[in-house]
Amino acid sequence: MRIYMETYGCQMNEYDSGMMKAMLRASGHTLVGDAARADAVIVNTCSVRERAETRVLGRLRHLRGLAGRDAILGVVGCVAQRMGDALAREVKGISFVVGTDQYALLPDVLESARNGLVRFETTVDPTESYVARPDATEAGLCEFVSVARGCDNYCSYCIVPYVRGRERSRPARAVVREVRRLAELGTRDVTLLGQNVNSYRDGSADFADLLKVVNDVDGIERIRFATSHPKDLSEGLVAAMADLPKVCEHLHLPVQSGSTRTLERMNRSYAREQYLSLVDMVRERVPGAALTTDIIVGFPGESEADFEETLSLMENVRFDSAFMFRYSVREGTKAAKLPDDVPEDVKIRRLTSVIELQKAITSELNGKLAGSTVEVLVEGPSERDPSSLFGRTRTGKAVVAPGPGALAGRLVPVRIERVTAWTLHGAMAENGRR
Ligand code: 5AD
Ligand code: SF4
Repeated sequence: MRIYMETYGCQMNEYDSGMMKAMLRASGHTLVGDAARADAVIVNTCSVRERAETRVLGRLRHLRGLAGRDAILGVVGCVAQRMGDALAREVKGISFVVGTDQYALLPDVLESARNGLVRFETTVDPTESYVARPDATEAGLCEFVSVARGCDNYCSYCIVPYVRGRERSRPARAVVREVRRLAELGTRDVTLLGQNVNSYRDGSADFADLLKVVNDVDGIERIRFATSHPKDLSEGLVAAMADLPKVCEHLHLPVQSGSTRTLERMNRSYAREQYLSLVDMVRERVPGAALTTDIIVGFPGESEADFEETLSLMENVRFDSAFMFRYSVREGTKAAKLPDDVPEDVKIRRLTSVIELQKAITSELNGKLAGSTVEVLVEGPSERDPSSLFGRTRTGKAVVAPGPGALAGRLVPVRIERVTAWTLHGAMAENGRR
């Protein structure tokens, strides 16, 4: 069959879509880039915020209209997991729903759909072994590798533990095998993924141990990981970041709020001061580390004073960048039982304030890089200006510099000359090395 797939949401969904595509190719299907010409349209969905979910439902209806009358329409991912057969009532003409834990069934479910059988596979099996992607046959320069699935934290606002199941770590052996395979196919930069990646455990090996073995894989130049929970950020992990040459100086450490009172009600299991001491530890041990975060404004009961504490924490830490959200009620979570009592206009005002503040901090921090020389992994030509190359620093910042995109895959030193909103502009300091 010709299959068209669309992906929404987080990096884990990106990874899962890659895994499903590999599985479908291995079963003899072809992936196409046009829904109107496909025999089956599959949408990998996100339900972390209500808006993401509404958008996906709209998109499904649109795709139903776009695809041929006989085409199969399937929904996978978090909305599939959360809504199950209720999805078929929301969107007419759905042929299957496969939840986050049942991707191994996908080829079989497609076969059923071809025979006119509608299936809903949304069991979350706590004993389910880790669904891994079949051996890759092609790989990009930068790839994700999933190392843990699910989440046991139950932050009170979050739907993830309900749609992704209990936390399971993938055996280190399997992770290393996949990273080796990717390196052979040309990958230079890997991001190890888990909803709560730093609580990874395989027997006696923890996440720092996993970083050590991945660091030994030939061909890999850079290792990143996401997302880390502050409560599981151990000294051992920070030491591994400091000591392992391939592990990049970048930590995504969602704080969510700067108010201890709010953090308690979010069930985050740390206080403002504890978060700040973790930041101190990282800054001390990993000089030049970029810190990024997630912030929620307008959580139930968030007072003006609580919100001010978020602003002051941002001033204090000076994150390199942040994903900022206004609180959105997710049915079935603990926080859904609390009154959603911050008025919408206040949420919007608070969100605008954090975005403005972060913008100022980001441009100030990036501005300081002018005059310095950074190591850039070239990803290809710049989209805006094909005579320039595009790449990223070890801290994940975008860089554009005159030069051939054909240097893709090389590490080149670039001297930064000027900085615009999100991009560093510079000139290559010398020819890159492989
Ligand atoms: N409302 C708003 N933001 C949320 N996030 C998770 N759940 C919600 C919610 N109900 C945010 C958190 C998390 C990021 C992936 O999405 O900041 O870290
Ligand atoms: Fe959600 Fe909290 Fe788990 Fe992150 S750590 S996925 S915010 S429950």
